[in-house]
Amino acid sequence: MPQRERSLTPVHLPPDWQPDSWRSRPALQLPVYPDAEALAAAQAELQALPPLVTSWEILSLKQQLAEAQEGKRFLLQGGDCAENFADCHSDVISNRLKVLLQMSLVLVHGLRLPVVRVGRFAGQYAKPRSADTETRGDVTLPSYRGDVINGPEFTEHARTPDPRRMIKAHARSAMTMNFTRSLIDGGFADLHHPEYWNLGWMGHSPLAEEYHRMVASLGDAVRFMETLSGAEVYNLNRVDFFTSHEALLLPYEEAFTRQVPRQWGWFNLSTHFPWIGMRTAALDGAHVEYFRGIRNPVAVKIGPSVAPDQLLRLIDVLNPEDEPGRLALIHRMGEAQIAEKLPPLLEAVRRDGRRVLWVCDAMHGNTESTRNGYKTRRFDRIRGELEQAFDLHAAAGTRLGGVHLELTGEDVTECIGGARDLTEVDLERAYRSTVDPRLNYEQALEIAMAIVRKQASLPRSIAR
Ligand code: PEP
Ligand code: CO
Repeated sequence: MPQRERSLTPVHLPPDWQPDSWRSRPALQLPVYPDAEALAAAQAELQALPPLVTSWEILSLKQQLAEAQEGKRFLLQGGDCAENFADCHSDVISNRLKVLLQMSLVLVHGLRLPVVRVGRFAGQYAKPRSADTETRGDVTLPSYRGDVINGPEFTEHARTPDPRRMIKAHARSAMTMNFTRSLIDGGFADLHHPEYWNLGWMGHSPLAEEYHRMVASLGDAVRFMETLSGAEVYNLNRVDFFTSHEALLLPYEEAFTRQVPRQWGWFNLSTHFPWIGMRTAALDGAHVEYFRGIRNPVAVKIGPSVAPDQLLRLIDVLNPEDEPGRLALIHRMGEAQIAEKLPPLLEAVRRDGRRVLWVCDAMHGNTESTRNGYKTRRFDRIRGELEQAFDLHAAAGTRLGGVHLELTGEDVTECIGGARDLTEVDLERAYRSTVDPRLNYEQALEIAMAIVRKQASLPRSIAR
């Protein structure tokens, strides 16, 4: 395998790059704001507001992702398809955190690896859409593109892109972040108290017994360590938690692209780990141009139409110096296509010796519509894509270093199947998503258990 020269940190700011150089490139999926002055005023206001994260946190996540690339950690990235302003509630935030903490406990226990926890929240307010407009009867209006851009109601007023929504999105993100940080710093994530993460409806869950067995075994291990060392294991009291969102709305992202004292280059300080969506990952497009210049770790969604040479060129642009922890590739092929589409990409990246973190999004290639008009996903297909991903990486000599999931801590019925075998009819009971269907708490936990079982079934020499 040809080895390229590797430097531990990039030392060059990409030439010709500025926080606004994306403006000279074709920009897909951006709204057309009717009032340019109002847009400029909102951007100026955002530029003066404090950021949501710091460069230290961003660089610490980059280090953890570099370790995940080496097989020393596993990435769990999850949250809603889209947050909305109305759901900025303490229950929604803490329930989502509980599920992610429970899943990470299952993964730590089963994979015997530290987990990098990244939420799809505190900024996940912009959505790419397949059509620019929506028609009902004889009325055609702009599509709903997420609460940071316009409103979901089918009225001209709600659907007109409003730049003031960016100010509200920043405030809602800050509240979400603040509450999450306070919960974690206050001891909510303490491994000595996993009962803090129990959700009301868990008592009746078919998975409860297996989960409680894991918790008990982990508790024993913690007590054993403490008896042995004669002291409490303090670093189990809190965990690192990072945020991510699709950095789709470039005027918003640009306003948080800043330089900080004692660091070179530019950071996106609206989130730790932004990603480029599948529909905006064109090599010469505005989004790739924006992402190449920031120092955050970044991810790109890779769909079934991406060819191996196209992927290598994308890696050249986004990580020219082969920096560890810089680039994650989130493949989202769909259960029916992954076996055909993924191996040539794995082979090309491996052959060229590129350093990336491979992550499987088992949601977005598996969306379908039911006869009763719901957008759904089948649990079996989600699990099936994940299980195939582990096998395909093992066969290619690459490593699946993480998963990307859409989930909620609420008792919704949006995906079909799982331990309670939800059916199309159940979707009518508690379907709340305005965009993609999410795994509910139980289905999410079941996926974490399936990951552990799958990993354990792989030959060890390949799995690590
Ligand atoms: C998403 O993650 O919600 C999304 C739209 O994904 P993709 O870009 O992979 O379709
Ligand atoms: Co989605």
